[in-house]
Amino acid sequence: MQKFIITGGRKLRGELALQGSKNSALPIMAASLLCGEEVVLKSCPRLTDVYAASRILNCTGCKCSFSGSTAVIDPRDVSRTDIPETLMHEMRSSIIFMGAVLGRTGECTVSIPGGCELGPRPIDMHLAALRKMGADIREEHGRIICSGKAHGTKISLTFPSVGATENIILFAVNADGETVINNAAREPEICDLCGFLRKCGADIKGDGGSSIIINGVPKLHGCEYNIMPDRIAGATYLSMTAAAGGEIILTNSCITEMEPFLSVLEQTGCSIMTCGDRIYLRSGSRLKAVKERIRTMPHPGFPTDAQAVLMAALAAAEGTSVFEENIFDCRYRHVDALVKMGADIQAVGKIAVVKGVNRLHGADVAATDLRGGAAMVVAALAADGTSSVSGIHHIDRGYEKMEDAVRLLGGDMRRS
Ligand code: EPU
Repeated sequence: MQKFIITGGRKLRGELALQGSKNSALPIMAASLLCGEEVVLKSCPRLTDVYAASRILNCTGCKCSFSGSTAVIDPRDVSRTDIPETLMHEMRSSIIFMGAVLGRTGECTVSIPGGCELGPRPIDMHLAALRKMGADIREEHGRIICSGKAHGTKISLTFPSVGATENIILFAVNADGETVINNAAREPEICDLCGFLRKCGADIKGDGGSSIIINGVPKLHGCEYNIMPDRIAGATYLSMTAAAGGEIILTNSCITEMEPFLSVLEQTGCSIMTCGDRIYLRSGSRLKAVKERIRTMPHPGFPTDAQAVLMAALAAAEGTSVFEENIFDCRYRHVDALVKMGADIQAVGKIAVVKGVNRLHGADVAATDLRGGAAMVVAALAADGTSSVSGIHHIDRGYEKMEDAVRLLGGDMRRS
């Protein structure tokens, strides 16, 4: 099993171009299934989750190939509608293929993705919405067997679920009539998915707000599309620099979409300036704790995916910061590893109280999930001495060669 070996204490300096967004690339790859022609995706991040999505596409009969950060998807020969359990289990977000395969072919068999490292992740809202849109859905021995053609309807989500919003959009683009999603997720990646679908000929309005209106069109064509930058990878590299000290310029970033994170990070005393698609951050002295409680919320609130990396940076800040995790039940699994590195953090239920310590020290820790693993790297870069982080397959799901990016900035990190 591979590990990252990280020696902390070096300041990070330099310029880094952000990778394309994982959480945009995955639904857009699923959406490509709905097109009648070839799709070219630029800035497609090279990640294990993206390769898992490409295996699902291949299994349905789509041809999917990569050259650098360009993915070419040819969906003309879709023939298979049941996605094997092994492929479904490779990543939780495989469930977004349900709306796409069903929309394209009128039938689809997938598996219940089950719980994951963030706790139980039910799909009740996905199923209720698709049923309301006309799908017949049966659950047999862990398999979900769906058939039917979508018709327009009004759906009010009880929570603005990102995945459920994506599945509804994917099923609705070729529906008969108008679909309205109330209390839709407003995440930037939803807008990116809709931007892609519009470029392919879909009729979608209101994305970015809480009501999305989709008028079904008979078919979609292909297009070339640039996937948006990864705001969570951006938050991670900024947190690393804030924690280790130094100066970084992130290029190819998305400032408006990162605002909910940047406005909190600024309270730690770092200097942050933005211009065009560039974010400059300088971290000179010890970080200050964040005074207000950091509450994770659906966009445009503070993103749950950035909770762990910011917590790692605040572990050695001056003063006490308090986090409230409102999206997932089990999203403090990185805390034990941070405590092993000398942090003083108490996590009970939704709340984590982080009392800043003077210094963190290196330790052998194991990544528990994608963002939790990234948090361990943030802490290790700021710590005295050497750390090893195992379980890095979690980190590879969402960060393109993190060790190369850190080394480019002058950090001491290698894969062994
Ligand atoms: N939920 C339900 N029922 C449902 C759907 C969701 O109870 O039918 C609950 C979930 O259990 C969770 C909450 O609603 O407690 C939010 O889930 P949501 O559906 O919004 O999240 P998701 O679509 O499963 C995506 C991202 C996550 C990100 C969340 C929240 C992708 C591939 N994944 O997950 O990203 O944390 O939205 O913003 O887009 C990550 O990148 O590390 C990651 C976990």
